[in-house]
Amino acid sequence: MSARSIEIKSNEQIRLMRRAGLAVAEALNVMGSAVRPGISTAELDVMARSVLADHNATSSFLNYGAEWGYPPYPATVCISVNEAVVHGIPDSRRLAAGDIVSIDFGAIVAGWHGDAARTFCVGEVRAAAASLVEQTRQAMWAGIAAAARAARVGDIGHAIEQHAKRAPRRFGVVREYTGHGIGTSMHQPPDVPNHGRPRRGARLSKGMCLAIEPIFTLGSPMAVTLDDDWTVVTQDGSWAAHWENTVALAEDGPWVLTEPDGGRAELAARGVQVSRLAD
Ligand code: MF3
Ligand code: CO
Repeated sequence: MSARSIEIKSNEQIRLMRRAGLAVAEALNVMGSAVRPGISTAELDVMARSVLADHNATSSFLNYGAEWGYPPYPATVCISVNEAVVHGIPDSRRLAAGDIVSIDFGAIVAGWHGDAARTFCVGEVRAAAASLVEQTRQAMWAGIAAAARAARVGDIGHAIEQHAKRAPRRFGVVREYTGHGIGTSMHQPPDVPNHGRPRRGARLSKGMCLAIEPIFTLGSPMAVTLDDDWTVVTQDGSWAAHWENTVALAEDGPWVLTEPDGGRAELAARGVQVSRLAD
């Protein structure tokens, strides 16, 4: 399999990816339950490492980048607070009431990757921040529902972008980071942008697995990387939210591998039935 061609998975391989997806879902659930004022982001990373051990899993993120001569990513989780967009490095920073925190996690089980992110509110947050978090979450589901019906990658990005446009507030849609194919490596073709035109872009086919991951901001969509070489923040300091799931496009429908229920409830609400593989 060359790095540039799309990896098509058999049902058996999708079932293996589900194991990685469940490890990711559990770690995000454990970390999300621990989010409260006073906890440090490094403590969340420790929790994620113990979930990896429970699942005989390894981290998709730890040391990521080293292969390309980039400073290796030093943790198992990306934790991005408030104006941080993605790739925040866990450290001694303590979360405070009113913060929003994006937690992004990837795991490898038996050679197959899962990748997902959630944005959590720490205690009560201001209304604009709460809306940003909820609308980004809904945009992810709109993108996943679109992927179930879509012919091409542009249909997914279009659905996500339309969701942002119809939202009660005007959000920035970050373009510098995209979703991606995923399988025996974390980042595979095709790129899955969070904007696009219907019926444009790479053709979707059964057996593809995609990470669908909108990132919205309360202001400008422009992002810059800090001197730590990883943390990406908004250029204007506005807050950002990030939601991501790994989705298998099985023969008879989608299966959201990084959700405990396989995406059944959220997709049913959007008129989409999940694959029988999820039964
Ligand atoms: N999970 C991120 C993504 O969705 C990538 C994490 S970057 C890493 O693409 F360095 F931490 F691996
Ligand atoms: Co991803």
